[in-house]
Amino acid sequence: MAEALARLRETIRFRSETRAMPFETPHVPAQSEGESNASPRRREWAAGALGETSQRLLDEDARLFLHQSVSTPCLSVIVRAEGPWIEDAEGRRYLDFHGNNAHHIGYGHPRLKKAIADQMDLLPFAPRRFSCEPATALARKLAEISPGDLSKVLFTTGGSDAVEVALKLARAATGRFKTVSFWDAFHGAGFGASSVGGEQLFRSNLIGPLLAGTEHVAPFACYRCPYGYPETDGKPDLNLCKMTCANMVRYVLEKEGDVAAVIAEPARAVPYIPPPGFWAAVRQACDDVGAMLIFDEIPTGLGKTGRMFACDHDGVVPDLLVMGKGLGGGILPIAAVMARPGLDVAGDYAFGHYTHEKNPVTTRAALTTIEIIEDEGLVENAATVGAHALARLHDMKDRLDVIGDVRGRGFLLGVEIVTDKASKEPAAELAEDILYRCLDGGLSFKISMGNTLTLTPPLVVTQYQMDHALDILESAIDEAARSRGLI
Ligand SMILES: Cc1ncc(COP(=O)(O)O)c(C=O)c1O
Repeated sequence: MAEALARLRETIRFRSETRAMPFETPHVPAQSEGESNASPRRREWAAGALGETSQRLLDEDARLFLHQSVSTPCLSVIVRAEGPWIEDAEGRRYLDFHGNNAHHIGYGHPRLKKAIADQMDLLPFAPRRFSCEPATALARKLAEISPGDLSKVLFTTGGSDAVEVALKLARAATGRFKTVSFWDAFHGAGFGASSVGGEQLFRSNLIGPLLAGTEHVAPFACYRCPYGYPETDGKPDLNLCKMTCANMVRYVLEKEGDVAAVIAEPARAVPYIPPPGFWAAVRQACDDVGAMLIFDEIPTGLGKTGRMFACDHDGVVPDLLVMGKGLGGGILPIAAVMARPGLDVAGDYAFGHYTHEKNPVTTRAALTTIEIIEDEGLVENAATVGAHALARLHDMKDRLDVIGDVRGRGFLLGVEIVTDKASKEPAAELAEDILYRCLDGGLSFKISMGNTLTLTPPLVVTQYQMDHALDILESAIDEAARSRGLI
């Protein structure tokens, strides 16, 4: 923390000296998306784990790239990625239970690599104004698998851009500009996406004013209910809380009266699963005031939660749905916005006029990725192996006092680390220690919100691999807690 503050002061000194701009009180944003890339524990791990080759490359990386939280300086160097595995420059292999949620079908799937190579031979690019068969085939496929009547599509290169398109469409369709979204959500790094996002890291005062009219409410988070209601075993007492989190969305929608859209992740990537009935209540509130509902399924879409889309669990169909990440099969960048046909309202304007809008190679990759997910039964695999994993994690929770909460669906799993169950005090340093012990054992994942171990394996992970990963995790938790005298 002291170091981060010193760095920030240096940035601000530089800014004020070079551009004589006024500045706010130094402020270190709360860590949220991932674990700190500047912590002492990270340095300690790196000193023991990284060989000369990795260190040289990391130093160069840190010299060449603009530094940013959770990204540069990097953790380590990888030289190979195959199936659910990544391999570092020292030849150590890790089960990748992070993968940015882009590796649904595993890394380097042979069928995908062949489809991409064949497509490059046939038609490597389509300049704007031209259609091509892979783009229309993908659009057709997405209409087939998307919930309800979502059947009109636009492609973008990344998720953040797709969020921008969805926001613009909602504005155009409603003639309004305001949004309601959730604190702690991440929707991408663009200005629109940062504005509806709810993380300090992306909304800092360093970048100045964000979009106007972007209202935020507290999210559902039953283990740590922002409204203060108690939970039992991570579950809410709905008789008591009366789902205040959903009611607050309605409250703000009604008070504002002219909101264009509610945008949210149907299952929060932290992760947090909504209480039953949450999305039906929000859908109804949106309908009552004429607001669009946009679901950001960028990490959760295409099977991550054990259904094709996370909102399928809730039986709620949004007006717009955004997906990305895994859509490119862990090789190429592509994202998509799906819309109800009635939202095709801006034909005289251009909201998604991207260079790679109808790229035959990225669209072929996305189409083949979906075919692989279907043909290999990967959604079903995520559901069954995920249920097995969740049961094992609950069992671990019963035995280990430093696990406060276990939650998730399919292959979106979270283990919240606390000093003890009774106090629920977040144990960020312990969580970090567990992460680095797991890396030493051959398992990679991410920490969210400081103390939640977030496991998002590719959908190809077998029960055997899952058990192996959970064995590594359990030993790491046990050893890290013991070393602090917590068990
Ligand atoms: C929920 C969510 N929305 C949007 C994004 C942004 O996607 P991209 O990084 O492709 O711009 C992400 C990426 O992590 C995400 O998790």
